[in-house]
This record gives sequence, structure tokens and C-alpha cells, in this order.
Amino acid sequence: MVASQIELHAPHGGVVPELAARAHLEAIGPTVEAALAALPGGWDDVDAVSVTRGPGLVGCLVVGAAWAQAAALARGLPVAGVSHLAGHVYSAWLAEPGFEPPYLALVASGGHTECVLLRDHGEAVRLAGTRDDAVGEAFDKVARLLGLPYPGGPAVERAARDGDAARFPLPRTRLEGAFSYSGLKTAVRYAVRDLGEGGLTARGTPADPAVVAALAASFQAAAVDQLVDGLEAAVERTGAQRVAVVGGVAANAALNGAVRRRLAGLRVVVPPLSLCGDNAAMIGAAGWHRLRRVGDESGFGVDPGLDEYA
Ligand code: KG4
Ligand code: ZN
Repeated sequence: MVASQIELHAPHGGVVPELAARAHLEAIGPTVEAALAALPGGWDDVDAVSVTRGPGLVGCLVVGAAWAQAAALARGLPVAGVSHLAGHVYSAWLAEPGFEPPYLALVASGGHTECVLLRDHGEAVRLAGTRDDAVGEAFDKVARLLGLPYPGGPAVERAARDGDAARFPLPRTRLEGAFSYSGLKTAVRYAVRDLGEGGLTARGTPADPAVVAALAASFQAAAVDQLVDGLEAAVERTGAQRVAVVGGVAANAALNGAVRRRLAGLRVVVPPLSLCGDNAAMIGAAGWHRLRRVGDESGFGVDPGLDEYA
């Protein structure tokens, strides 16, 4: 059971924080009730409550954290406050029975592009982060430059299917222990600008669908190359035998294929689509492990800039 705000934000071409928080408040009760309907005893079958403490939009985090702590208090249940990033890392643990740390995770989402080594439960080491944009953010921005709908990732992937990736060669940024996507995004912007007035619609997006497809394909190829280069470097550095690709961008089939090709021989887990994008199941999984380590935490606040994996 996942409540989506895509239709709410689509007309704005991106998430509007004020609308997001209000919609969150309206959706949270009915969404939890719908999820509990799958349990024969409803709330009586729940042992603990887990919720995201950060990072994220403060209004949404406050709604979730307050609601979860109130529900836990009312039911006499323990409550865990977990990092959204830990949730993504645990989506692989959830997707694949027996997939236990130590494993290396590439977290590729709208807000993050990182390689993280989960050494053990509660013991994560960040190996690489992004210097500027996150890869999902780059997909979303490129979608806008190409006149594709929100959310950009799936739209760029769809458009790229029929595109000639060799028509617009785009640069790759390769950094030691870091990712960067602003150069690639700017290169797409210049390629669009260089089409000239004759090649553009009134909104400034490419007029020819074949050009849109080719730019989408070139961008996706470069973005995937950069991601897998960084992941490969982290594998070499750590000697990891198990690798997970998680976060919204892990839904990308080109990324999935490239990781499996280039890391052939390693155990690679890419969760199913339903666990790649933001979801509560992964927060439950991370919370379960956190509760076993630190116990009940009721009374915690939220942290929009939370930058840890526990
Ligand atoms: O993890 P997520 O659902 O939310 C965040 O925590 O950010 O990730 C959302 C991001 C968006 O930027 C979206 O465009 C991207 O994941 N995304 C994709 C695909 N599906 C979603 N990017 C590339 N290809 C996809 N198929
Ligand atoms: Zn996420």
C-alpha cells in the first residue's frame, strides 16, 4: 500500500513542499488503515512502529514522526526513528531473503547518490557521495529540458528506448571517491540550446521527437556509466562480494543491466520496483534492526538534513 502524490505535484513539474505536507497529513491515517487491513488482527498484530526521522521535507517528516509516536503511545508499542537512507539500504535485505551485511549499496535516488558499505547492522560507512546534484535529480531536470513529464526518471527511460545514444556524445565526469552530475546536466542544456530556434518548440524544448529520444538515450548512457564507474571503484576498494542497487533510480533497466554486466560474478541485488521508490516497508525493515540494537526511542524529533544510515 503506497500513497502517491505524483498527480498532485505533476502540474508544478516538481514537489511543492507546502502541498506535500498537507497531502501527507490527509493520507497518513487512511494509508495505515489500508495497510493494516492485510493483518487478521489489525493493530493487535503490530509489535512496533517505525518511521522516517530524516532526511526529507520538514513538514512531511513532522507529520509522519508525530503520527507514528502518537500511534505507538496509544497502543503501548515501541517506536523507532530511522534514516530514510537506511531504509533504502535495507530494501535489498527485505527483497532478498538471506542477503545480510556486509554488503555494498549504491543509493541512487532523487536526493542522494552514494556508495555505502553496510559492514554490519547499524554500522555503515559512506564511501562516495555527490559533489552537486543527485542522479535522480539530474534525470528530473533533463526531463524538463526535453519537455518530458514529471517524474523525469521513468519518462527519460521510456524516451531513451527509441533513441540513438551516439547522436549527441555527452561527457562523463569521473572523480575519485565522488559523483557529480551538474556537468552532464549542463551538457544536455547546451545540446538543446545548440539546436537553435528552428529546432525548438515555443517552450524551448526540442521539437523533433527523434532528437528528444537521442538526447534521453545519450544522457541515460552517460549517467549510468558514471554510476557504475563509481560503484566499480567502491567494489575494488572494499573487496565487496555482495552489492545492492537501491533508491528510485534503481528502477532503471539500463542501470540494472549495466551493473549485472560489469559486476558479473558478484552477488547483485536490485529490489523489485515496488521497493526501489520510497516506501514504508523499507522503513519497517530498517526500524526492526534499529529496535533490536537501541530499543524504544519515543520522544525523538525530526532532522531534515539527517546524514547518516542508522
Ligand atoms: O528514492 P526515491 O523514490 O525518492 C527519493 O528519496 O528521492 O527516488 C526518486 C527519484 C526521482 O528523481 C525519479 O526521477 C527517479 O528516482 N527515478 C528514476 C526511475 N524511476 C524513478 N530514474 C531513472 N530511471 C527510472 N526508471
Ligand atoms: Zn528515497
